[in-house]
Amino acid sequence: MVGATGSIGRAVARAVCDRGDRATLVARASARLVALAAELGPRATPFALDLSDEAAPARLAEAAPDATDLVFALGSFPRTPLETVGRADFAAAVTEHCALFVECTRALAPAIARAGGGVVGFGDDGVERPYPNHLAYLAAKGALTAAARVLSLELGAGEKAPADRAGPVRVGLVAIGVVTDPELDDPARRAALARRSRLGRTGTPEEVAHVALAMLDATWVTGEVWHVGR
Ligand SMILES: NC(=O)c1ccc[n+]([C@@H]2O[C@H](COP(=O)([O-])OP(=O)(O)OC[C@H]3O[C@@H](n4cnc5c(N)ncnc54)[C@H](OP(=O)(O)O)[C@@H]3O)[C@@H](O)[C@H]2O)c1
Repeated sequence: MVGATGSIGRAVARAVCDRGDRATLVARASARLVALAAELGPRATPFALDLSDEAAPARLAEAAPDATDLVFALGSFPRTPLETVGRADFAAAVTEHCALFVECTRALAPAIARAGGGVVGFGDDGVERPYPNHLAYLAAKGALTAAARVLSLELGAGEKAPADRAGPVRVGLVAIGVVTDPELDDPARRAALARRSRLGRTGTPEEVAHVALAMLDATWVTGEVWHVGR
């Protein structure tokens, strides 16, 4: 569980442990990881790792040689208005949201293939229904969406899958509407964001976790983006 101490990551980690599976909890801040592992019980193992370190994906694979699945819930939500967004913003966002996802998937693919498991990351509904002031972030989520589809092919077992690849590994995304937002304390903003969804409200991390685990369990699904909170 990469990004285990975040709002979505905690809910997924809890759901995994509650259903009797084990979870390796990955994030940078060790104290938060240890506290979460204590909360979740003996099925949870904390593993502090900064994935921006280039050696980190290999360390992750070493730490979890029997990984059956990967849930990747990492990635910030930087405000990058059109007037000021620059190349560095795009580079940082694509690295964080897309490249790290690809690197972790590649590192864990042999173990996940042995287990017949899958990889789930988190996209953003805004790739298809854009909103302002987050150009670099949404562009990076678009890159992530393409990468997940490519990975499902490259790590698949179909005619286009390279023969020497570990696989098949199912890869997909849950594209989220709004669960948390840095400005949600503002009642006007909360109401405006709620109105974007046909259900008239923002979602909960538990609702997202439910769909993420459903995707991992869906053994005949790969390369898909499931939208939640539209
Ligand atoms: N929440 C939403 O409404 C929403 C909507 C659309 C999409 N999403 C997507 O859902 C995913 C999870 O979002 P979230 O709101 O749960 O995020 P979050 O609360 O900000 O949590 C991010 C997690 O990633 C960890 N992390 C960050 N940088 C790291 C690094 N370099 N190495 C290792 N761990 C790192 C953080 O812990 P440390 O800081 O301790 O490392 C934390 O555990 C993201 O991809 C986000 O874009 C969320």
